[in-house]
Amino acid sequence: MSEQYPNALRNPVFRVISKAATTLNLESYVIGGYVRDYLLERGDAKDIDVVAVGSGIDLANAVSKLLPGKPKVIIFKTYGTAMLQSGGIEMEFVGARKESYSKDSRKPSVENGTLEDDQNRRDFTINALALSLNDDDFGRLLDPFNGLEDLQDKIIRTPLDPDITYSDDPLRMLRAIRFATQLDFKIEDKSLKSIERNADRIKIISRERIIDEIHKILMSYKPSKGFALLHKTGLLKHIFPELLALQGIEEVEGQRHKDNFWHTLEVVDNIAKTTDDLWLRWAALLHDIGKAPTKRFDKKLGWTFHGHEFVGSKMVFKLFKRMKMPLNEHMKFVQKMVLMSSRPIALASDVTDSAVRRLVFDAGDHVDDLMTLCEADITTKNPKKFKKYRDNFQKVRDKIVEVEERDHIRNFQPPVSGEEIMKTFGLEPSREIGIIKDAIKEAILDGEIPNEYEAARVFMLKKGKEIGLSVIE
Ligand code: CTP
Repeated sequence: MSEQYPNALRNPVFRVISKAATTLNLESYVIGGYVRDYLLERGDAKDIDVVAVGSGIDLANAVSKLLPGKPKVIIFKTYGTAMLQSGGIEMEFVGARKESYSKDSRKPSVENGTLEDDQNRRDFTINALALSLNDDDFGRLLDPFNGLEDLQDKIIRTPLDPDITYSDDPLRMLRAIRFATQLDFKIEDKSLKSIERNADRIKIISRERIIDEIHKILMSYKPSKGFALLHKTGLLKHIFPELLALQGIEEVEGQRHKDNFWHTLEVVDNIAKTTDDLWLRWAALLHDIGKAPTKRFDKKLGWTFHGHEFVGSKMVFKLFKRMKMPLNEHMKFVQKMVLMSSRPIALASDVTDSAVRRLVFDAGDHVDDLMTLCEADITTKNPKKFKKYRDNFQKVRDKIVEVEERDHIRNFQPPVSGEEIMKTFGLEPSREIGIIKDAIKEAILDGEIPNEYEAARVFMLKKGKEIGLSVIE
């Protein structure tokens, strides 16, 4: 007798689907992520995948008719699937099929099949688990590949020979790594070897889909697991060659530099403990990206990566563009973090007010994120050094608060406007206005004058005089 999980199907919507399937005289099952996540006690997922032994589109239409407000059914003809939303739940309906994929695309050619055919063509045994929605065995688990055991043993395994499963849809290589990272599972050895063999097939997958998986890896509890697997399987060189270029240690005249790839992964794990901000995690992943092209050995200085932050911030743009990620404020944020990633470090040993004011001025609202990144960047295994660096950054943080309370530099607005400068000296729009505004800003950042109107006005008059302007009465 196989196991029953009626509790997984408490949501009344499952009875509705069951009823609709009965009226159409077809069998239906919940399959995939919903069942997996229920069994893993990850809570009830909001996405439900339903397989109909028959037409998924007909079933979706029949379900919609039984639901309050008859939600709209969205049909994807090419895939023979249909989707609808109701009560905050998204349901996707598909007819059970036997599938074979062509070599050069992910578009399957579809033939109708049984539930078991359908389970066969799914990516992993843990994603092929199905629960019956049929009246006579509602809630029964259908598990032809021992997916339940794999869930318990924390194993990612393909239902078919992995070479078939992965070459049918190469995105699954990334999904295997993503699930292994997200769930802290192990990829079965045979599967891992198959990914190594098939890695270059990732080329046929759209970059948007690849990035979706990378986002999920980055949002995991310990992202380094995923990146180490990407590295081990050879996928990394197809996706992020610039990260791979950070790997390795060179030695010249007995001097070695650290391996910046493995260091980066430690930084990403560190930051994952302190922030759920996807883009700050991206910044951690890319913070040293400019180190490969800027690496030099200097007889006096040893290994240097001069200007790597600037080069790195340019590389962020190229990488986002290549991966078809939006070139929006998130990209600019990552660029800024990379560009500024060494600033607090340079400051830490000698925290002056004016240097902190400049840091806050340049980082604006992102100064806390920048400090979080720098703290994550401490990967020394020497406890004394670790404490020293942490304490230094704490001093910078304290100073930021102190300077901010006094000087209000964050989102700096010039205390004297360009208009007032024009009026005072009777100027048309001209270079002089910029010169004076800039001088006021610099004087405030240097601590020469406070960030206040009166002081700034006096300074403006003095500066105007210096550059040969006279006040209009
Ligand atoms: N699936 C597959 N091959 C893929 C993508 C999906 O076989 N390349 C199957 C799996 O059975 C999967 C189901 O389709 O469980 C639903 O896919 P999807 O919604 O992308 O993933 P979930 O498993 O639901 O997981 P998550 O929501 O975490 O992405």
